[in-house]
Amino acid sequence: MENTVNAAVMRITRSRTKSLNIFLILLPVRKRFMSIYILGIESSCDDTSAAVLRDREILSNLVANQDVHRAFGGVVPELASRAHQQNIIPVVEQALDRAKIHKNQLHAVAFTRGPGLLGSLLVGASFAKSFALSLGIPIIDVDHMEAHILAHFISDPVKVSDGPAFPFLCLTVSGGHTQIVLVRDHFDFTIVGRTIDDAAGEAFDKAAKIMGLPYPGGPLIDKLGREGNENAFHFPEPDIPGFDYSFSGLKTSFLYFLRDRLKADEQFIENNKADLAASIQRVIVEILLKKLAQAAEKYGIREIAIAGGVSANSRLRNALIDKAGEMGWRVYIPKFEYCTDNAAMIAITGYYKYLRGDYGSQELPVYARSGMKMI
Ligand code: KG4
Ligand code: ZN
Repeated sequence: MENTVNAAVMRITRSRTKSLNIFLILLPVRKRFMSIYILGIESSCDDTSAAVLRDREILSNLVANQDVHRAFGGVVPELASRAHQQNIIPVVEQALDRAKIHKNQLHAVAFTRGPGLLGSLLVGASFAKSFALSLGIPIIDVDHMEAHILAHFISDPVKVSDGPAFPFLCLTVSGGHTQIVLVRDHFDFTIVGRTIDDAAGEAFDKAAKIMGLPYPGGPLIDKLGREGNENAFHFPEPDIPGFDYSFSGLKTSFLYFLRDRLKADEQFIENNKADLAASIQRVIVEILLKKLAQAAEKYGIREIAIAGGVSANSRLRNALIDKAGEMGWRVYIPKFEYCTDNAAMIAITGYYKYLRGDYGSQELPVYARSGMKMI
């Protein structure tokens, strides 16, 4: 089919009369029948990632983590951009190798334009722009937060569902963002609630840091929490109007609680690690799901998705399934590799933009903050 359509397109472009018009009419047909190959590049924070996508299928998705930040208890922006510079070429080469795709087969290069760390974003953006320029193909700029959500549309042979039906609500929870997003179509996103201070991922990471665990603490709290009693300790939930969140008060009460207990028993954290992790995890998940349920009621929506790094949390994933039973929701939970930062989500977003002819330009600057519209 691909060859037939190509041949048809070539014959038409050669014809002298009406050639341009007919070519333009057939362009969408060509796009529909040919496989589209997109290279995705993600470098918004501390993971350098490249992925190759054929239509909605991921052929390769490589992530190079940066261990250099561990010693500092958080991401050091300057070190992150230097590590991206070292990683970007080998990661892209390996992504193409694993996908068994030659760079000349690519139709476009999609990259994360923001939000994120400017220095980190610049490395991915500069590489994507020059790579696309050298290949003579379009570049496509992608918003990182939209991409976390659109990861649900990556096709998966073992998954029965083809992604959430519109409109749906997506709880997008990462290290820098916590948002309830109303998604009306692939390009219509409205934030209906968001954190007014710390993100949910930050709440996990800060609680872990207070307990003396290394960065990033979220996955460690998850692991420890599986062995603990989640009702061992109680921490207050914030009282914030609407569908907004707040996590900074919880962090402070966790800090004060431990400070007091440590006065009486300096082994308190060591002796109660699992119970502490399970208890703080329970309250974070409860806060997240309570507002999500309220928003779902208000908007009358039963298609519910989660996305972002914190959507890898096992307690959140299980609690969402329980809530779905209670509320009559259909829920969409990403595969683990598409929760934390990855270039597959950038490639799928690039694919949808490519189909619309929504290309970027060499002049586009990167941006640090999300421009997603709010209700
Ligand atoms: O989406 P992401 O990889 O990067 C940002 O865009 O920020 O999210 C990273 C965040 C970190 O705060 C990390 O601790 C958290 O996601 N995270 C988790 C888990 N895995 C990653 N938090 C709780 N449980 C997990 N299993
Ligand atoms: Zn992210």
